[in-house]
Amino acid sequence: MPDTTNASPMPMHNDKPFYGYHVDAIQEQYAQRAAPSVVSFFMERLTPGMSVLDCGCGPGTITQGIARAVAPGNVIGCDLEPGMVARAAALAEDADLPNLSFQVGNILDLPFEDNTFDAVVSCAVTEHLSEPVKAMSELGRVVKPGGIVGITRTDWSATLVSPPCDALTRFFDLFERGFHLQGGTMNGGKHLGGMLRDAGLTVVDLFPAFGSAHTPEAVDNMVGGWAEWIENLPLFDRIIEEGMVDRATLDAMCAEMREWAAQPGAFAATAGCRAIARKD
Ligand SMILES: C[S@@+](CC[C@H](N)C(=O)[O-])C[C@H]1O[C@@H](n2cnc3c(N)ncnc32)[C@H](O)[C@@H]1O
Repeated sequence: MPDTTNASPMPMHNDKPFYGYHVDAIQEQYAQRAAPSVVSFFMERLTPGMSVLDCGCGPGTITQGIARAVAPGNVIGCDLEPGMVARAAALAEDADLPNLSFQVGNILDLPFEDNTFDAVVSCAVTEHLSEPVKAMSELGRVVKPGGIVGITRTDWSATLVSPPCDALTRFFDLFERGFHLQGGTMNGGKHLGGMLRDAGLTVVDLFPAFGSAHTPEAVDNMVGGWAEWIENLPLFDRIIEEGMVDRATLDAMCAEMREWAAQPGAFAATAGCRAIARKD
C-alpha cells in the first residue's frame, strides 16, 4: 500500500525518502549549485562577522559560499535529510572554513533558540511543505530582530520551452502532481510575498527570476537531470502506483527529453520567486 500520510516531517515511500535526496545522482546535481548564482540577492546583504543559518542546505555548496562571505561569522547549514548533512560535511572538509558546520534540523521545528542568527536563508525547500507559512514563522523566530530572511521558491506554472516538447510538458505536470501528493507544490513562488507577511515578517524585496539553459551543455545538464529525477525518485514510483502514468511511458518520456535536449538551439527555462523579509 502506498504511504498516503504526511504526518512524518520526512515524507517516505516504501521506506525511502519520497523526494529522493538520499540518491547519489540527486545529491550530485545539488552539489553543483553555488551561492553567487543562487542567492546573490541574499549575499549582497551580508557582511563579515554575521551569523547565518542556511535551512534545507542540501549538500551545502551554497552554504560554503555564504560562510566565505561572512567569515569569521558562524554559519550553520541544516537539513532534514541526514544523508544530505553527511554529504555537506564531507564536501566542506577541504574547504578550510572553520566557521561552517552542518546539522540535522527540521525547518518546521528548528533546534535553535529564538533570536539566534543575523540572517537566515532557505532555497528550494518550502516547495516540499504543506505548511510553508509555519516554516517561514520558524525562520522568523530564530532570526534576530532587525535580521533578514531570504527565500527562493520555484513557480513552474511559468515554463519556457523551445522547440515544444510533449514529454517536458508531461514531466512538469506529473512532477507537480507528485508534489501535491505530499501537500507541496512547485507552483507557489507567486505567493511567496503573501506567505512571508502571513508569517509575521516585513517583505523588503520580492522579484521573479528564471533559471534557464541555452548552451548545449547546460540544456543537456538541466533536462538530463530532470530525466534522472524521473528514473530515481520514489515520488515517481508513487505517481505510477496512483495510476497517473506507467513506467514504460516514463521511460519513453526520458528518451524524448534527452533527444530534445541534444538538438541544436534547444532552450528551456523555469520560473521562481526570491524574497528578502525583515523581522521588525
Ligand atoms: C531542492 S533541495 C535544495 C537544497 C539547497 N538548498 C539548494 O538550493 O541547492 C531541498 C532540500 O530541502 C530539504 N528539506 C526538505 N524538507 C525539509 C524540512 N522540513 N526541513 C529541513 N530541510 C528540508 C531536503 O532534504 C533537501 O536537501
